[in-house]
Amino acid sequence: MYVLPKKGGRLIYSSLILKGENISQSYNGYTVLNNINCEFKKNTITLIKGKSGSGKSTLLHILSGLEKPKSGFVLYEGENIHILDEKQQAKIRGEKIGFIFQEFNLIPDLTVEKNILLPIELNKMHIDNEELNNLYKKLDISHLIKKNVRLLSGGEKQRVAIARALLKKPEILFADEPTGNLDAINTNAIVKMLEQIIIEQKLTLIVVTHEEKLFNLPYKEFELTNGILSECIKND
Ligand SMILES: Nc1ncnc2c1ncn2[C@@H]1O[C@H](COP(=O)(O)OP(=O)(O)OP(=O)(O)O)[C@@H](O)[C@H]1O
Ligand SMILES: [Mg+2]
Repeated sequence: MYVLPKKGGRLIYSSLILKGENISQSYNGYTVLNNINCEFKKNTITLIKGKSGSGKSTLLHILSGLEKPKSGFVLYEGENIHILDEKQQAKIRGEKIGFIFQEFNLIPDLTVEKNILLPIELNKMHIDNEELNNLYKKLDISHLIKKNVRLLSGGEKQRVAIARALLKKPEILFADEPTGNLDAINTNAIVKMLEQIIIEQKLTLIVVTHEEKLFNLPYKEFELTNGILSECIKND
């Protein structure tokens, strides 16, 4: 639980899991993110939209601790993830945070199975074989597990990247255009699966997508424009 400052002598507990404070990022003098403030509550869905090049992936990399902002902080359950020591950062990134990368980031020349299991093995986490097989079935990748990832289609790679991120049962899942390479049937199956995990495992989902009406569960929607993140008002 994230503990807010005392008010009237009592501690106030909130369901906040992640907070970005005054985050700015620039590359070669070009400002991509300009003083962004954002909060994410446990067990919620947040969509981030914006034009290509507007900084969506950059924001996700910073919020997940993968990239350090030029200025500002990211607080995970009240702790600044960029100043924790290496071991603590690795524990949060390894066990608590899942990331589905836009470019998949699979390790070439390893099989699908090795790619999916690698984070679990590196973090010395327990593998439940029944869960693993269920995940393969739900993502329709059972027939691919012995195949080298180099030989997969874009949509197959995307489903493998999703399996790898979900197997460790993260508390927060960052998903950077997770259905960008999928057909409607696979997109529906993955959205259903994510919604089930959100309900059953109290997952917090932060997702970059261009798709309209992806989720049936309630969600917040933000747009990133000129380095500024603004909440979209929904009319439904
Ligand atoms: N490591 C980096 N070094 C230099 N420039 C970078 C770096 N990372 C991102 N950029 C630049 O920052 C801008 C935002 O990139 P980013 O990948 O965050 O955009 P995006 O909104 O995710 O775009 P898309 O929808 O195409 O995926 C781009 O102009 C990109 O070239
Ligand atoms: Mg991107």
